[in-house]
Amino acid sequence: MMRNDRITTKKGKAFPRSSRISRLAGGASLLALAMIGCSTQEVAKKPKEEAPKGPVPYKISYPLGLDPESANVPKDNPLTEEKIKLGKRLYFENKLSVDGSISCASCHIPEKGFADPAQFSTGVGGKKGGRQAPTVINRLFSTKQFWDGRAASLEEQALGPVQNPAEMAMPSMDVVKEKLGADPSYVSDFKAAFPPDGAITDIHIAQAIASFERTVLSGNSPYDRFIAGDKNAMSESAQRGHALFKDPAKGNCETCHVGFNFTDENYNNIGVGMAAKNPDLGYFAISKLEGHKGAFKTPTLREIASTAPYMHDGSQKTLEEVVSFYNKGGHKNKWLSTKIKPLNLSKQEQSDLVEFLEALSGDLAWYGK
Ligand code: HEC
Ligand code: HEC
Repeated sequence: MMRNDRITTKKGKAFPRSSRISRLAGGASLLALAMIGCSTQEVAKKPKEEAPKGPVPYKISYPLGLDPESANVPKDNPLTEEKIKLGKRLYFENKLSVDGSISCASCHIPEKGFADPAQFSTGVGGKKGGRQAPTVINRLFSTKQFWDGRAASLEEQALGPVQNPAEMAMPSMDVVKEKLGADPSYVSDFKAAFPPDGAITDIHIAQAIASFERTVLSGNSPYDRFIAGDKNAMSESAQRGHALFKDPAKGNCETCHVGFNFTDENYNNIGVGMAAKNPDLGYFAISKLEGHKGAFKTPTLREIASTAPYMHDGSQKTLEEVVSFYNKGGHKNKWLSTKIKPLNLSKQEQSDLVEFLEALSGDLAWYGK
């Protein structure tokens, strides 16, 4: 998505945080069922197994190293097999773009660590945005989305690209819903995922896609196996890199890339793109606070070896380049984070850090893979 895009429904209202309406609707139909049950004897005679089966709750199996306690699944969008299946179909669905040419997977490519090897992704008609497509991996552990955190949830994020002129370029969500509604197999998939009415709504589309995204996980990397006690899982060089990564007097990376998902979920200015005449000011556009100028979300480092190029503008092509950028102290600018300083690492230390970053690639799994 482009940065000026707003997540709005067709009435121009912000996307609702909870779908109270659908819960109310569910309650009302239960009541209706109960009333029918009371007034006719036939219903009472019917055998139990004919009661409509609800969607099947889905239990995530977490790869080694990921913390189930940190999962963010909104209360009004619990994971179910049916929803995830539908969301997966929608994620790979070219019909979500105006000319039927691209899907979410065109820019967040499963084989490329759910990112895009291009510096800037190509939307319909060859249009390009101004930011690099980040990975969709491990989004389960974040609430806010985008390089500047402007979407509060995956649900809120999901409809943005569909209507973004530089991405899927749909004129409105109505066209999307019409297209899906004209396909009987989608009608039945929505019924299964969102019983009893199975309405094809903005919210349901967003909830299904978000549910699928929450199953895209990477863990069980050499690093995770090393932490779990297998001292041979990481090379000696990667082990030295790990020590540098943590050491405040050396790499000092962990101060921002912290925890099992290697992010503080915060916004920091490390100077990327700040040499430009009119730089992308990142999180400042959202917070409007001077100190946030040029600050971008600290990204996860999991599966980092397969998601080049790097940074919000895709300006760094290799991990060697990234480490050398940090070694020089980022790019000086008025708002540079005080945590960014020249590191004076030797060539060997720099390649040890790269080796450690490469040890963060593990088992990348998603629903039905
Ligand atoms: C034309 C390329 C393109 C398409 C198609 C596309 N995206 Fe994106 N996506 C991007 C770019 C570029 C960004 C970063 C924009 C920003 O942060 O301002 C992004 C950001 C995201 C993020 C935020 C990730 C994070 O780390 O914060 C998610 C999640 C996401 N997209 C999911 C989707 C889904 C779901 C679809 C399909 C409905 C989709 N994208 C379609 C290019 C694309
Ligand atoms: C002040 C917080 C901070 C520190 C310290 C820090 N990073 Fe980052 N890192 C970030 C932010 C913010 C970005 C994204 C910046 C952007 O795109 O403008 C980032 C981006 C990256 C990326 C690219 C990720 C991607 O998906 O494009 C890598 C790799 C990385 N950092 C590794 C490191 C290493 C290695 C160190 C230690 C030498 C380190 N970082 C120290 C905040 C930090």
